[in-house]
Amino acid sequence: MAFSKSFLWGGATAANQYEGAFNEDGKGLACADLITSGTHSTPRKITEYIEDKYLYPSHEATDFYHHYKEDIRLFAECGFKAFRFSINWTRIYPLGIEEQPNEKGLQFYDHVLDELNKYRIEPVVTIAHFDIPAYLSEKYDGWSSRKLIDFYVKYCKTIFTRYKGKIKYWLTFNEINTATLNIGNFLSLGIHTKSCDFTNQPDDIQKRYSALHNQFVASARAVALGRSIDPEFKIGCMISYMPRYPYTCKPEDVLLAKQEENMHSKFCGDVQVKGKYPYYALNYFEKQGIKIDITEEDKKILLKGCVDYYAFSYYLTLCCSYDKSVEKNGHSMIGGSGVNNPYLEQSKWNMMIDPVGLRIALNDLYDRYNIPLMIVENGIGAHDTLEKDGTIHDLYRIDYLKRHIEQMEKAIEDGVDLIGYTIWGCADLVSASTGEMAKRYGIIYVDKYDDGTGDLHRSKKDSFYWYKNVISSNGEEL
Ligand code: BG6
Repeated sequence: MAFSKSFLWGGATAANQYEGAFNEDGKGLACADLITSGTHSTPRKITEYIEDKYLYPSHEATDFYHHYKEDIRLFAECGFKAFRFSINWTRIYPLGIEEQPNEKGLQFYDHVLDELNKYRIEPVVTIAHFDIPAYLSEKYDGWSSRKLIDFYVKYCKTIFTRYKGKIKYWLTFNEINTATLNIGNFLSLGIHTKSCDFTNQPDDIQKRYSALHNQFVASARAVALGRSIDPEFKIGCMISYMPRYPYTCKPEDVLLAKQEENMHSKFCGDVQVKGKYPYYALNYFEKQGIKIDITEEDKKILLKGCVDYYAFSYYLTLCCSYDKSVEKNGHSMIGGSGVNNPYLEQSKWNMMIDPVGLRIALNDLYDRYNIPLMIVENGIGAHDTLEKDGTIHDLYRIDYLKRHIEQMEKAIEDGVDLIGYTIWGCADLVSASTGEMAKRYGIIYVDKYDDGTGDLHRSKKDSFYWYKNVISSNGEEL
């Protein structure tokens, strides 16, 4: 049997896309609350304040805040061993700067954790998943200020202390490498902007990479702090991992694929696992004229705060061509861009479906880092049809997940130490890149639509029953 008895099968979500209740019980405004809905062809907008003419999907999302008992009961019924969710920073510190945390925010996660514990479901908790307090963005220009490090560490101290004994697996920043892209400016780094398109933000790469450096330092400090609070904690990084293939075997394409993969998918993991900047990143910064203020103290902190395990999201692979005339791929995921791969099918949102790429990724990552790996996001965004009798026949989703799990099994047989798999958006939630409900990932359907309507009723999709059997057979029956 490839999967160990303790393998963490489950699902994953993020507060800003799932919880809703954006202004309840003292929660502050987060950057994500200022991003409007969009579609595959119409970009989301970032607005400076909430405007009546727009719909902001994070505000209600699919309302986990008021449905957590029902949803966790469904996860338990499916047999989940783990549930990944994020704590919303603005529920705990509404502005980010307060001396005392918001007790009501802390209590909400007490309830969620108690409910998970009732069913023996292991929490895997993201500390920051795209929900920086909007006040920190406006006042300090987000992570471009070093002050954010202390605010974040204080927030970590609060939740580490409060939930010690209840949470073992932590992730410091969701897809920290989103900061290597234009789209990361506001969402991932909270860099302040006037109203603009989400997919085309004003971009100062010097500021963006300096802000990312501050997140590295904050993450490393959180790891060291977490260990001092509870040596049982396992604290991981979380990387959006998109392997790059060369479009041809022309050496120029091979080199380009390597360089793009390094700077998007490898760089941040290298810093967080190995505790120092890799040579290729330092070289890239020098060539681009980017100067990062890496102090001697920072270097020590980075080395002291190496992560315990490597968590990543895997949805697709990208293909790189030096030849500008090769047709581009217009996928909507938050990640780099590439050209169409003629050997792969695409989803409706143009993601290249590549199960074998997952086996390649797992082998590459384990070879590079030699620490346990966890896949904390994987899945296919698709249009689902709710039939009159309440059923949803999502065979395309079963097919996607099945083919990826087969490759996980093969990678484990290759010798990779894979400890868990949480499918993305296990209950339907809002898409991060396009801000829509139409792009669904869940095995649980939520009655919520892009015009804001829907009664939030939950229904089990065919994939729910299929995944339940996968978990109960520990991956034997696909
Ligand atoms: C990752 C994020 O980028 O991919 C999630 O961590 C996101 O927040 C997921 O939802 C799927 O992407 P999308 O854009 O289809 O929602």
